Amino acid sequence: MTPDKSPLLKAAPWWRLSTGRTLVVRGGRPLIGTYPISGAKNAVLPLMVSALLTPHLVTLRNVPATLDVAVLAALLQKLGCEMHWSATGAGLSVTLSADRVQPGRIDPELVTRMRASVLLLGALLARCGEARLPMPGGDAIGLRGIDFHVTGLRAMGATVELAGGVIEATAHGGLRGADILLPLPSVGATENLLLAAVSAKGTTRIRNAAREPEIADLAACLISMGARIDGVGSHVLTIEGGLPLAGAIHAVLPDRIELGTLACAAAITDGELSLPHARVELLGVAAPLLDAAGVELRDVDGGVVARRASSGLAGIDLVTGPYPGFATDLQSPAMALLATASGVSTVSETIFEQRFRHVDELRKMGADIAVHGRTARIRGVARLRGGNVTCTDVRAAAALVIAGLGATGKTTLDGLDHLDRGYDRMTEKLAACGADIVRF
Ligand code: EPU
Repeated sequence: MTPDKSPLLKAAPWWRLSTGRTLVVRGGRPLIGTYPISGAKNAVLPLMVSALLTPHLVTLRNVPATLDVAVLAALLQKLGCEMHWSATGAGLSVTLSADRVQPGRIDPELVTRMRASVLLLGALLARCGEARLPMPGGDAIGLRGIDFHVTGLRAMGATVELAGGVIEATAHGGLRGADILLPLPSVGATENLLLAAVSAKGTTRIRNAAREPEIADLAACLISMGARIDGVGSHVLTIEGGLPLAGAIHAVLPDRIELGTLACAAAITDGELSLPHARVELLGVAAPLLDAAGVELRDVDGGVVARRASSGLAGIDLVTGPYPGFATDLQSPAMALLATASGVSTVSETIFEQRFRHVDELRKMGADIAVHGRTARIRGVARLRGGNVTCTDVRAAAALVIAGLGATGKTTLDGLDHLDRGYDRMTEKLAACGADIVRF
């Protein structure tokens, strides 16, 4: 589906008017050069939503120029939030001003375009005492319920009804602190409840909270706004809510998934990439696992250098898990790499039920992959070959770009909205590192 870009352009004027619908990669050229790592896709979205909590100015730096950011900007603008964008050498910055918020002005079409729109629930309840939005959209990678979000908000005194695909929530007497145990360390539920808890009266404890670096980034921004949050980076977050929230200036965390993705791209092409702004430690256990697969990662001044180990690519066994486990968002890029590693690899997906949709596309390019339940068994082939493939979700799109860069011949990708949702100017950044890649 081609998104109607007009509300996006109004809210995010930097969003490109016309982006080609087809990407052509001619593989076999080593990637050599500097690929700047942008702000994290999954950190910037909750950070933008946090601006709804205060009437004061929130400035975010290092904002990635992605479709998701443009869609969220359009949603926030409808709600009454004003935005001022500026582009500097250091990337995009935005100053958000949510002086007046009109919770009724939700654009249902925009909400259904992405998962992170569910975060509006916690923020609007906190700021306005009410929220009404359709069920959020996002990648079709599993069931992706919102029961943890709803149960937590109810524990904080909100009334939440779900009927006919619409979520209706009120807390006219204000939210109150609560003791909440998450059944799983859900990233989105932790963020939603954190956003609500900083404005709730009293103490909220979120147990079994997610520990992803994006949560710590949100907490850091909220703390600089004046919130009191203990236990950041641990499984128990304790929030003293109800303190007045001022504005903040915050630089978005570097994108660890973009880092891992480009490291795989450097290794599959036998190139060497300098990845400014990133740090190896952000990858958690993915760093030693990628190393075992033959992806050398080295911290240098101001960034990371990634290249293929002289011993070549080797098969590994990996299991996705909550941070610091192997990120599910790196699973498909890693699988593209392992498709040409010597020996047999196994990849087990434990977070989402349907996150192997890239397998059929990789097979079209000659990959030897068999799927049994939630585990894929990959027998490495010497080389993938170009093909016509379709991106089925954000990370599948990145996997297919990696496969195309490492393949012989021409790969044609469609379904590029997925790529645009999560990656900041990937085509341009790859071309600057020597890739033969064009979009039209
Ligand atoms: N879950 C429930 N009920 C809930 C919430 C979650 O059953 O109320 C389940 C999910 O179905 C899933 C598991 O819990 O099986 C974990 O889901 P989580 O809530 O942690 O994921 P999310 O918040 O929906 C975010 C990222 C995803 C990333 C996951 C895991 C954003 C906008 N999305 O999703 O990113 O894969 O955390 O790290 O932050 C991507 O960037 O490609 C992407 C899908």
